[in-house]
Amino acid sequence: MSLLILGIESSCDETGVALVRAPGDGAVPVLLSHALHSQIEMHRAYGGVVPELASRDHIRRVLPLTEHVLGEAGQSLSQVDVVAFTRGPGLAGALLVGAGVACAMAAALDKPVLGVHHLEGHLLSPFLSADPPEFPFVALLVSGGHTQLMRVDGVGRYAILGETIDDAAGEAFDKSAKLMGLPYPGGPVLSRLAEGGDAQAFKLPRPLLHSGDLDFSFAGLKTAVLTQAKKLGADLQARKADLAASTQAAIVEVLVKKTLAALQQTGMRRVVVAGGVGANRLLREQLNAACAKRQLRVHYPELHLCTDNGAMIAMAAAMRLQAGRETAQKHYAFDVKPRWPLDSLA
Ligand code: KG4
Ligand code: ZN
Repeated sequence: MSLLILGIESSCDETGVALVRAPGDGAVPVLLSHALHSQIEMHRAYGGVVPELASRDHIRRVLPLTEHVLGEAGQSLSQVDVVAFTRGPGLAGALLVGAGVACAMAAALDKPVLGVHHLEGHLLSPFLSADPPEFPFVALLVSGGHTQLMRVDGVGRYAILGETIDDAAGEAFDKSAKLMGLPYPGGPVLSRLAEGGDAQAFKLPRPLLHSGDLDFSFAGLKTAVLTQAKKLGADLQARKADLAASTQAAIVEVLVKKTLAALQQTGMRRVVVAGGVGANRLLREQLNAACAKRQLRVHYPELHLCTDNGAMIAMAAAMRLQAGRETAQKHYAFDVKPRWPLDSLA
């Protein structure tokens, strides 16, 4: 029996809602519609996400977005079979909005509900692309809060090969951007500015590049960017694009080299990139080139599904249900998990 799954994402600064159809024969689930409201404009004045404002805005957006996706897919709420929501990790208050709405909706409809791991959503989002991967693969998970290399043998079968010991890659982009006086969210702004800069202009560290393991560290890079920015003083404005390009090159080089090392170590021939930083053009270019040279396959989510969205949450729910890893239950007493390691999933 096919299932119509409503997915709700509210872990940080994006409210995302989507409808996915999971065919009963185990075929790849299909995205019927999705809608997103980004809070970037609202948080920009503060230079970063204000958790309380985020929660309040999720409350305002989630029902109109739900009506929108139902309308677009030509479905009614009563046709929804399972309501899925992001249970964690993320901001506690923001997660509670999605969890509360999902459970209330499911209770009113007398339908089961399913809490989804946000990073599993990112990890499985490439299955919604025109070129979906096959298990097993190495995953490079690069978001604002996480940087991990994982071995993925199937749905719910995740082993961490390496991860950051301090800042995440997205955080390195965001914090470096802030030090250069760029507006929030730093990652995309910095990478756009970098397009017109010289990546060789400044010598910045490649932390843990030769550490021999698959861990990352980006805190030192941020300090080096700060030192350069201070040294430049009044010249920073004129050299901003060069500093942005040099910073981006340092982050991307470490990500690409460690990913290749993970592929070599595991003997796998396929890599999946997921999370917001997966939208970075230089990362895609360099990883594509490195993988083509070695006849390795690389998969990405569609560009618009790299950052947070509801589609990946509905998709992860669909794939967990199909794989028999989960049974959705009519259990409406909810909790959220602001901290939740991905490899604790089964
Ligand atoms: O996955 P995501 O939307 O949210 C989290 O789960 O954290 O990732 C957001 C992160 C931010 O740090 C943002 O700056 C970064 O992804 N990001 C980028 C780009 N687009 C988003 N970083 C570099 N280049 C981009 N084009
Ligand atoms: Zn995310």
